[in-house]
Amino acid sequence: MTKRALITGITGQDGTYLAEHLLAAGYEVFGMIRGQAPPATRGKKRPNPEVRLVSGDLLDQPSLIASIEQVQPIEVYNLGALSYVPISWQQAATTAEITGMGVLRVLEALRIVSGVTDSQAPGPGQPRFYQASSSEMFGKTRETPQNELTPFHPRSPYGVAKTFGHYTVQNYRESYGMFAVSGILFNHESPVRGAEFVTRKVSLGVAAIKLGLRDTLQLGNLDAERDWGFAGDYVRGMALMLARDEPEDFVLGTGVTHSVKELVASAFAHVGLDWREHVVVDPSLLRPAEVDQLCADPAKAGEKLGWKPAVSFEELVAMMVDSDLRLLWDSRHDLGTKAPEVASLW
Ligand code: NAP
Ligand code: GDD
Repeated sequence: MTKRALITGITGQDGTYLAEHLLAAGYEVFGMIRGQAPPATRGKKRPNPEVRLVSGDLLDQPSLIASIEQVQPIEVYNLGALSYVPISWQQAATTAEITGMGVLRVLEALRIVSGVTDSQAPGPGQPRFYQASSSEMFGKTRETPQNELTPFHPRSPYGVAKTFGHYTVQNYRESYGMFAVSGILFNHESPVRGAEFVTRKVSLGVAAIKLGLRDTLQLGNLDAERDWGFAGDYVRGMALMLARDEPEDFVLGTGVTHSVKELVASAFAHVGLDWREHVVVDPSLLRPAEVDQLCADPAKAGEKLGWKPAVSFEELVAMMVDSDLRLLWDSRHDLGTKAPEVASLW
């Protein structure tokens, strides 16, 4: 029988890459989208047409139960979240509900549909669950690099919500014996990354400046350091975590850290420009509490999953800038009018 996977967050960056990966591996892929199917996908890049859409919302427990009953998946990937860190200060309660409580709701839906209780252990073939945990949970880091045992000290409402979700997964595993794991993923990027995140903001900005569409790029903290990798590499790791005999959590990252300043310098240099002539620091983009530095220790994933990222930082930056140069060039006559998805990136 064909293996069925259900992905929440199918319209996001990771949902896009994970669906491709699972379809290529022969899965039947179902993606959960919010609201009524046609309006929810209007104005957005529709997921891969081979993905079958189901309606559901992480805020709505009955919709999650219904989706799992309908799809009967063998794997559930919970990628849905309010994932942009600055918004989490403005909408802290919504973030807690979607990014934190949403995890509990999916686990409850799985538990109820599978008939699991504290006295009824999961039977063979029970669905496996993947949670998108985040290196943002390390926050004010206690050690460098960070591994699966590093204590958490989240610095944003988003990080707090992810930490709740992370411990909830661990608790369902320990309380009910469910196959539930968390991938603690460090920042991963791609040409379909949301335009509000710094890598894509920079690649779009550099492309626009190179094409003469604008002259400056406003940024916040240039000294923050992140461990940036390519999203396509990270979704492979998610699938590998669910393919193991034992449920365990894993850190995925490159182990290499760069500052925002280095990111900017590399992206501008790729098109032969000097970043100092174009980048303007805007203090309104600074965060109430910053995560200064993140650096992964992905040794466990290398050892037990055989996982290793294939794309380097320099290749990632070049890939994103080249992609945005093509995107803006192809739609240069339509910006703001006929290409809403491009116009909305500004
Ligand atoms: P993303 O592009 O922001 O996608 C987020 C997804 O969540 C979208 O599909 C969005 O759907 C969905 N969503 C939002 N609210 C929802 C709700 N109430 N119910 C159901 N779905 C909802 O994020 P991403 O970069 O792909 O990241 C995927 C996951 O990994 C997220 O949980 C993120 O927090 C986590 N993560 C990401 C990174 C990273 O560097 N990318 C690192 C660590 C962890 P709509 O289109 O309807 O808004
Ligand atoms: N977004 C943004 N915009 N960030 C900026 C800017 C700017 O103009 N200028 C500097 N930065 C700095 C931020 O202060 C932060 O230190 C760093 O760039 C990265 O910011 P983001 O790209 O927004 O990502 P993030 O690290 O806050 O969060 C991402 O990674 C997490 C994993 O560590 C998101 O994908 C989260 O969902 C994810 O969990």
